[in-house]
Amino acid sequence: MEFDAAALQHNLAQVRALAPQSAILAMLKADGYGHGADWVAEVLAGRVQGFGAARIEEAIALRRSQADARILLLGTLLDAEILHICSTQRFDVVIHRLEDAELLAALPLPAPVRVWLKLNIGMNRLGMHPVDFSAAHRLLNLAPSVASITHMGHFSDADNLNENTTREQCKLLTTTSASLGEAPLSAANSAAIIAHPQSHLDWVRPGIMLYGDDPTGSLPDAQKLQAVMQFKSRVIAVKEVVTGDGVGYNRRWRANQPCRIATVAAGYADGYPRHAPDGTPVVVRGQRARLAGRVSMDLLTIDVSDIDGVSTGDEVELWGNQLSANEVAEHCETISYELFTRVTRRVARCYPKGL
Ligand SMILES: Cc1ncc(COP(=O)(O)O)c(C=O)c1O
Repeated sequence: MEFDAAALQHNLAQVRALAPQSAILAMLKADGYGHGADWVAEVLAGRVQGFGAARIEEAIALRRSQADARILLLGTLLDAEILHICSTQRFDVVIHRLEDAELLAALPLPAPVRVWLKLNIGMNRLGMHPVDFSAAHRLLNLAPSVASITHMGHFSDADNLNENTTREQCKLLTTTSASLGEAPLSAANSAAIIAHPQSHLDWVRPGIMLYGDDPTGSLPDAQKLQAVMQFKSRVIAVKEVVTGDGVGYNRRWRANQPCRIATVAAGYADGYPRHAPDGTPVVVRGQRARLAGRVSMDLLTIDVSDIDGVSTGDEVELWGNQLSANEVAEHCETISYELFTRVTRRVARCYPKGL
């Protein structure tokens, strides 16, 4: 995997252009969507107003390299010990249950924490009903353990451009919040940043678009995002097969004419999806080749019959600049988020020098 700091900065500039009035909380959970949280934080430091982590371990690791950054611990299982860590490490924390608000309100802490109070606006995953949300707000508003309260929600359908759900969910957040007085508001993920400008509010929370994917597929060419991760390997063998030959385990793919098959050093143990079907694209010598046969642990096989001169040692792009992770994901019936976060430790990470 190779990483491109300029692409990451380009994508951040697109967020800034789309939501010029909002503060930006960059999502760095799951090791920066597989891109390396420390590196992403270093590239974005001073250009965003905060970072989001999903696990206390992620937040603690990030604090080591980002001494002064605002770091938000997203919805997780909280207890007195974790809240104490949030206090000493100066983490903002999402409070998504009334019980957690009660625990925090009663807790003596070394320093008060900044709270992001989460309203359930329709996902029914995390967040409180408006009644509990209001009770939690009133309680925390008076608590000495709380420094400030931001109101947040998370959209269920922001990538769906043809419906009103996001507008309604946003309204639920703004009206519930307004009934409690003034608080900063946050709801927009990447899809909402791109497709629902009315939802930007005080803080936007981009994840996938920083890493180069537009989950709505609606950005015009002039605002296109750039791939930050290049996932590459090399051809390690080339074979001629005759009509009727099969390739790979169970010979799933069969040659219907004489073909050339290149074997590439990448497999499911590297994070390339095993369930990728025949026909999934890769790029060799600047041209598309297609997966031919089952992905195995360390290897995959591609049909290079239409590409001149493919030979051992040639570089193969599995996804990146020339082939978006999103396109590969569509073939594999998944999303780029899953591809990015599943590349395994075996794959060498190459970061540009100087950043
Ligand atoms: C609470 C919250 N906000 C924002 C995001 C960012 O979403 P996306 O990567 O789609 O921009 C996530 C990611 O799932 C999230 O859990």
